[in-house]
Amino acid sequence: SFVVGIGGGVVCDIAGFVASTYMRGVEFGFVATSLLAQVDASVGGKNGVDLDGYKNIVGTFNQPKFVICETSMLKTLPAVELSNGFAEMVKHCLIADAADFAFMENNIEKLMQCDVEVITPLLAKSVRIKASVVTADEHEKGDRKKLNLGHTWGHAVERISGLPHGQSVSIGLEFAARLSTEKGLLEKRDYMRLMNLLRELQLPICTSINPLRIFEALTKDKKKVDNSVDFILMKGIGNVVIERLELNEIKSFLVSH
Ligand SMILES: NC(=O)c1ccc[n+]([C@@H]2O[C@H](COP(=O)([O-])OP(=O)(O)OC[C@H]3O[C@@H](n4cnc5c(N)ncnc54)[C@H](O)[C@@H]3O)[C@@H](O)[C@H]2O)c1
Repeated sequence: SFVVGIGGGVVCDIAGFVASTYMRGVEFGFVATSLLAQVDASVGGKNGVDLDGYKNIVGTFNQPKFVICETSMLKTLPAVELSNGFAEMVKHCLIADAADFAFMENNIEKLMQCDVEVITPLLAKSVRIKASVVTADEHEKGDRKKLNLGHTWGHAVERISGLPHGQSVSIGLEFAARLSTEKGLLEKRDYMRLMNLLRELQLPICTSINPLRIFEALTKDKKKVDNSVDFILMKGIGNVVIERLELNEIKSFLVSH
C-alpha cells in the first residue's frame, strides 16, 4: 500500500498521519497544492492532527517518500490562502534569511499577483531553510524549535478564534516580535518592518479577542514544560533565539501591554 495526499496542509497532515499509523505504517508521499503546504506543511516529517480542540495533539515524525510542489497549482488558490502561505515564508526569512525578507518587502505586488517567477525561487529557498533546520534536529530536541516562531501564541489564537493557520501565525509573529522588542532583543525599526510586511501581505497582526483568553489556551500547549514554555524570540531579521519563559512572565507582559 502507498498513500498519496493531494491538497493543502490539512490533507498532507492527515495523509501522513494515516499512512504512518495504518498497519503500523505504510509509505506515503505528498502533492502539496497550497502555498502553505508547499513551503511548510509538506516538509519536515511532522504529521499531526487535532483532537478535542488541541492542536496537533496526536501525531508522528515520519518522512514522506516524495513531495511534489507544482507552483502552477497556486494559480487557483484564493488570495486569502496565498497570504496564509506568505506567513510561513516570512517566518522562515525571520529565522534565517534577512536578504529574502528584504526581497519580499520589495516584491509585494508580484507576490500578491502570484507571479510564479518571483514566488518559485523564494519558495525553494524557504523549503531549503526548513529542510536544513529539520535535517540538523529531526525530532525537535533543540534548534528545530526555532520553526515554532509565531506558533506558540499563534496556535492558541487558532484554537480560540478559528482563524486559518497562516493568519494565526501572523498574529503570533506580531506577539513574538513585540515581546522581543520589550526584552530589548529586537529593534523597534525591525518590529515596524515586520508589521508593514505582514500588513502588505494582507495578513492580520492583531485580534479583538481578549489576550488573557489566548493566554489560557497557551497554558494548554502540548510543548509546555511545567510552568514554562520554550518561546522563540527575534534578535533581528534573520536571527532568532529559543528562550524558556515562565507562563507568569508572559502573563505579566500581557497585563502591562
Ligand atoms: N506538518 C507540518 O509541519 C505543518 C506545518 C505547517 C502547517 N501545518 C498545518 O497545515 C494546515 C494549514 O494548511 P493550509 O493553509 O494549506 O490549509 P488547508 O489545507 O485547509 O488549505 C486551505 C484551503 O485551500 C484549498 N486549496 C488547497 N490547494 C488549492 C489550490 N491549488 N487551489 C484552490 N484551492 C486550494 C483547500 O481546499 C482549503 O480550502 C494547518 O492545519 C496546519 O496546522 C502543518
